[in-house]
Amino acid sequence: MMKESKKIKIAILASGSGSNAEAIMKWAQNCDWVEVVCVGSNISKSLVLTRAQKYKVPTFFLLKKKNESRENYDERLKKSLSAYSPNWIILAGYMRLLTINFLASYNYQVINIHPSILPLFPGLDGYGDAYRAKVSESGCTVHLVDSGLDTGEIIDQRKFPLINGESFEDFKKRGLAIENAFYPEVLEKYLKGK
Ligand code: GAR
Repeated sequence: MMKESKKIKIAILASGSGSNAEAIMKWAQNCDWVEVVCVGSNISKSLVLTRAQKYKVPTFFLLKKKNESRENYDERLKKSLSAYSPNWIILAGYMRLLTINFLASYNYQVINIHPSILPLFPGLDGYGDAYRAKVSESGCTVHLVDSGLDTGEIIDQRKFPLINGESFEDFKKRGLAIENAFYPEVLEKYLKGK
């Protein structure tokens, strides 16, 4: 009889380029207690789906129907995810708010990375908002997800100073590279033994 895998199963949800998702897949590949069981996106042409194929991780995308409620969309999302039985949902640039029903059905075992030092600059454009506000330091936050906008319990944060005269593009690139190293590090510490 085959022994059932004791690995923690994580599903990644992402909407964009997927650099954080790739960093997590790379980390998981070399980790004997965690497995990325699928990558899902709300955008059919998301680069993250191509990145996942490179790691032989199953993918799916789920388009929002016209006038579809968030509740209905998340019910369909749950159905798509159920084929993979994930224990944890990891958001990596996933640009939709999750409903309470969705979060509850995963026992609130949902983690996100946000590009700011929360509670500063929640929302869609963390780096842009910080840059325009001319802050002296920025950073990223890994947090548990609740039904609010980037309001869940903070797991860990990494700060970095802004460089005088740095362009927004360079600042964002630097921030994203820091996220890519930080997110797997935090997951390694937080999820081990869960
Ligand atoms: C990252 O900067 C992530 O923190 C941000 O989207 C980017 C995704 O990049 N997420 C949010 O703003 C969530 N509110 P990636 O697709 O290359 O990982």
